[in-house]
Parts: sequence; structure tokens; C-alpha cells
Amino acid sequence: MAALDSKQNNLNTTMQREGFTSTLGAIAATLGSAVGLGNIWKFPYVTGENGGAAFIIVYLIFVLLIGLPLMLGEFIVGRRAQANTVGAYRRLAPDQPWFLGGYMGILAAILIMAFYSEVAGWVLAYIAKAASGALNGISGLEAEHIFAQLQGQVWQPLIWQWVVFLIIAVVIACGVQKGIERMTRTLLPILFVLLLICDIRALTLPGAGEGLRFLFAPDFSKITGPVLLAAMGLAFFKLSLGVGTMMTYGSYMTRADNLPQTAAKVAFSDFLVSILAGIAIFPAVFAFGLQPEAGASLLFLTIPMVFNAMPLGSIFLVIFFVLAGVASIGAMISLVEVPVAFLVEEKGWKRSRATGFTIFFMAVLGILATLSGSTLSDQQIFGMNWFNLYDYISSSILMPVGGLIVALFVGWHLKYPVIRDEASNDGTLNNAGLMKVYTVIIRYITPVAIIVILLSGLGVISL
Ligand code: PHE
Repeated sequence: MAALDSKQNNLNTTMQREGFTSTLGAIAATLGSAVGLGNIWKFPYVTGENGGAAFIIVYLIFVLLIGLPLMLGEFIVGRRAQANTVGAYRRLAPDQPWFLGGYMGILAAILIMAFYSEVAGWVLAYIAKAASGALNGISGLEAEHIFAQLQGQVWQPLIWQWVVFLIIAVVIACGVQKGIERMTRTLLPILFVLLLICDIRALTLPGAGEGLRFLFAPDFSKITGPVLLAAMGLAFFKLSLGVGTMMTYGSYMTRADNLPQTAAKVAFSDFLVSILAGIAIFPAVFAFGLQPEAGASLLFLTIPMVFNAMPLGSIFLVIFFVLAGVASIGAMISLVEVPVAFLVEEKGWKRSRATGFTIFFMAVLGILATLSGSTLSDQQIFGMNWFNLYDYISSSILMPVGGLIVALFVGWHLKYPVIRDEASNDGTLNNAGLMKVYTVIIRYITPVAIIVILLSGLGVISL
């Protein structure tokens, strides 16, 4: 009877909550969260800073052993509980402290958004620059100058960042289904094609070979504890894990959605987009005499030069930044959605109020990240400026710890029948063997890997 009651409860809440309309919608939205500036901005620059091919191989291993299992884990928890991240832990483990993991995720989402919105602001600024012709025919040195000038100003980057928040607010006001699904479904394929065009141009640049060697010929002597942690942090960041995003999105999926398959599709496509971005960027880095270690500016230095070397390049350049901006929207919406779902479901706030409050809060913290390029550039906290600090705390600490909590929760707290029922849609999907392997990975391999990498990256142990 109790079981029946809880089933009834579940049904009721499912009906009251707004979810994704179809399987395609669920994949589009989760893919929309994963694919974003992480692929075209972060993946290349972090790869550049950490030595190239060997880093990518380690990253890929982490995607498979840590990212993919955790994504499925978050889907399982979210869809089972039909709730936001704090609520999900609370429902599935009443009176136990697991829900603290949910709060940590909310904090991570806020910090990520505080610097992510700045990068999205740079993208908007570059749309304007590209459209005005300011990037036509520039040299490597000029490219560096233009970026440094944007970042070094006070008001310009701030205003662009606020425009980003405004856009997000408007999109979210349209609700889960319409806002998120429609944007993603139409525009991601176009971005993909444009990246392919970029790749072809980049590969035919004189000196492209060196960029390809950097991307594909591994030198494992470059792998150290901090490099491992950077690769793991990137896997979390890329796949939107350890924040509660995929848990919240899992809660919007229907009983018909195939969770393991969705996770695999998203992880695979996301990796593909990152590699395509790498192929567009690194040949250009070497062809134009830029530095692979250029850091957060890498995308903004290389892409204008790739397009400059192409017929109709100035038009494609505008389109590229527009699509990059659009791709970032899905990711940002999913970041805002974590606290919003929490405020609405746990605190009873109205959706509009929760959204306004969350965005305002993120924008205030975002000011520090943006000013760290100008007025606050001398301010160092643990040897980092605000921008890097937000990034480091989220990618290297909060997300891995959040992911560890997910792994322990799924692997040790949830009972096997729950995992099996969610992963197989109550036995209608034929994946029992796979799920046996999955439980071993999520119980032992994922958590141990996270702990070891975290400790070695923080210098507590040396491998
Ligand atoms: N995955 C997104 C990207 O790569 C960023 C993100 C991180 C989104 C965490 C949500 C949660 O752009």
C-alpha cells in the first residue's frame, strides 16, 4: 500500500511539473547544456595549456570512466525523485545528509555562471566587432591587442555581460519546454556544419601539420597531478556534471526516455564537437605564430584569423560567433535552472521570482569576474584573480566533490532494483548485462578515480 501511495505521489508530481515533451526534446536539452563555450572556448585553451594530445587522451578516459557513469547516475536520481537536486536527495534519502550535495551543486552553478556569462559577453562583443569589420585582415599581434583591450576595459565587458543575462532571462521566461528545446534543436546542427567548414580551412593552412601533431601525437611525460585534475575538471565542466544540472534535467525526462542511451549520445556528440573545435583552432595557432598556452583568449585570437584566410570569411566570422553565442545559451539556461528549480520546488517561490533572483545574484558575482580583467586585476586570492578563482573552485573542487557524492549515492545508497528499473524503463529495455557492469563502475571505479585525482591534483598525494 505504501508503495502504491508513493507511486501515486510520483505520478501526481510528474503531472504537475513541466517536463520535456519528447525523447528528442530531452536529448536536445541535455546536449544543449553540455555543448557550449566549454567545447569551443574552454576545451581548446585547457588542452593548449596542458600539452595537447596526451591531455586529450586522459580527458577521454575520464569522460568514459567518470563522466558517462555520472551522467547516467544523475539522470537516474533525477527521474526517480522527480525533483530538483536538493529535493531529489531529500526524497530518496530522507533524514540523511546527502542533500548537502545538492546545495553544493547550487553554489557551483552560481560560480560557473558568474564567469561563464563573462565569456559569453566576450562572444557578443566579438559579434559586434566582426560585423563592423574590425577583425578583417588583422595580424596575430593585432588580434592579441584587440582582445586585451576589450578585457582591460571596465564598462564594455560589463555591459555585454548584462546583455547576456538579459537574454537568458527572456529565454527562461518562456518556460522549460519552449525556451530550451526549440533553440537547441534548430541551431546546434548549424554550429556543427560551421565547425566543419572551419576545420577544412584550418587543415589547409600552411603549417597545419604542427597543430595536428599537437592535437594527436601524445607526449605522456606532460601528465602530472595538476594536469590530471585539469582533465577531470574539464570532463565535469563539459558534461555539466556534479552541479545538479543533469539531475534536474533527468527529472524532466519522461518514463519513455532511454537514460543510458541519452547519456552515451550526449557524451559522444559533445566530445566530437570539442575535437572539431580543436581541429579548427590548433593548426591556426601554429600557422599564425600564436601560443597554444595563450589561455582564456585562445578562441578569440585564432578564430578571426582562420576566417580571415577564407573567402567570405568576414560573413562566416559573424555567423560563427552568433552560433557560439547561441550554443552558450543552452548551457547557461541549464545553470540557472539548478537554483530556480530548487527555489520553486523547495521554497515555494514563483518561477518568475526565482529566475529574477537567481540571475541577479549571478550577475552581482559576475561583476568581480569581469572586473578582474581591469580594475581588480591586481587582486589575488590564493594566487588567482576572481575569474580564475571561480573557475578553479567550481571545476577542480565543487564539481568533482559533487560528482563523488552522486557516485556514492547511486552506487551505495540506491538499491540495485532502482537502478535497474530506471535504466531499463521498468524492464522494457534490454540492458541488464550492461547495467551490471555499470553498478561496478559507479560503485568502485568512478569514486576511487575521483578521490585519487582530486588528491593528486591538490598535491596531497603524488602519483
Ligand atoms: N557544459 C557547459 C559547456 O561546456 C557548461 C556547463 C557546466 C553547463 C556545468 C552546466 C553545468 O559549455
